[in-house]
Amino acid sequence: MLLNERYIGLMSGTSVDGVDAVVADFSDDTVRTPGHVYVPFSAPLRSQLQALMQSGPDEIERAGDASVALAQAYADAVTLVLAKTNLAAKDIAAIGSHGQTVRHRPERRFTLQINQPALLAELTGIAVVADFRSRDVAAGGQGAPLVPAFHAAVFQGSEPRVVVNIGGIANFTLIPAKGSTEPVRGFDTGPGNTLLDAWCERHTGKAFDEGGAWGAQGRVDAALLARLLADPYFAQAVPKSTGRERFNVAWLDAALATEGRALAAVDVQATLVALTVQSINAALSAHGVANCFVCGGGVFNGPLMRALLGAQSTAVLGVDPMQVEALAFAWLARQCFASQPGNVPEVTGAKGPRILGAVYPA
Ligand SMILES: Nc1ncnc2c1ncn2[C@@H]1O[C@H](COP(=O)(O)OP(=O)(O)O)[C@@H](O)[C@H]1O
Ligand SMILES: [Mg+2]
Repeated sequence: MLLNERYIGLMSGTSVDGVDAVVADFSDDTVRTPGHVYVPFSAPLRSQLQALMQSGPDEIERAGDASVALAQAYADAVTLVLAKTNLAAKDIAAIGSHGQTVRHRPERRFTLQINQPALLAELTGIAVVADFRSRDVAAGGQGAPLVPAFHAAVFQGSEPRVVVNIGGIANFTLIPAKGSTEPVRGFDTGPGNTLLDAWCERHTGKAFDEGGAWGAQGRVDAALLARLLADPYFAQAVPKSTGRERFNVAWLDAALATEGRALAAVDVQATLVALTVQSINAALSAHGVANCFVCGGGVFNGPLMRALLGAQSTAVLGVDPMQVEALAFAWLARQCFASQPGNVPEVTGAKGPRILGAVYPA
């Protein structure tokens, strides 16, 4: 019998915008993507998840309820993507389900993604691989970013390439040229869209700045930008990873309060775009790589993309930028099934390669 090499990847990242579900077929040398769906979270689920990202009363109860609602949203996305591709549960080897990060504290040896893999397996009739990050953290790593191994597997070229994923947080992968003995490198550069979204929502009521049009009307405030860039995270040595524990709107409010001047909301938005741009460009300049391929929702922010050095969407390499991260978790599920490592120790700082994920059979 032919080995079933079809996996579903489910990704819901720090933007808390919704879930991307993608069917990935690894039966050729390349990855094929028969189908993708994006299902936005309902407003109540979004606020439920966002509320869990800071400590608060009753959080075990709330996390339990949110994880059940999340599994249902994931199962709905799986149903949709199966219908779209005319596939059935039996055609899928496993679902790789990242879950929703509610706390990332590798320095305290834990990272927590809420997820109900057992319920998802029950609702879909498909095996689920979940909890990808904790083994890397247990091995002394950051548990993040985990996408560099996949980026290297699909995007390696005859010249060195950089892949930047601009989700809520942005991460950077440096892929050496084919045949090179250099390792893959990577780290989180800092905020991607998360502050842009939060500020936009506060001032315009919209969940994100469509096309980056609002921010484009503002002027970068050099003093505020310098203050934001003075956060020690940006100068910290690798391995490093971050999240909304550090880069959140309270962090921005504190910087604005110290600045002590009235700033136009639109100028703050423009400055936040510059913050994302400068932190990514610093990584690009430091590595001197001319080819930068961008994925994640940040590709839709025109001014942001134009300001990044040599940036193009991963679409030019044949992969839809909104599918890359979900594909990575399909690939990581497959690595788990094949008893192959999913982390890159040079990226996460783990003691060595580790097989990532826990399996919930169908
Ligand atoms: N049309 C658009 N214009 C501007 N920004 C967009 C657009 N579409 C998506 N985004 C941004 O991308 C984010 C979602 O990106 P995504 O890659 O899903 O991040 P995550 O992995 O954190 O969920 C949104 O929150 C928003 O900031
Ligand atoms: Mg998303």
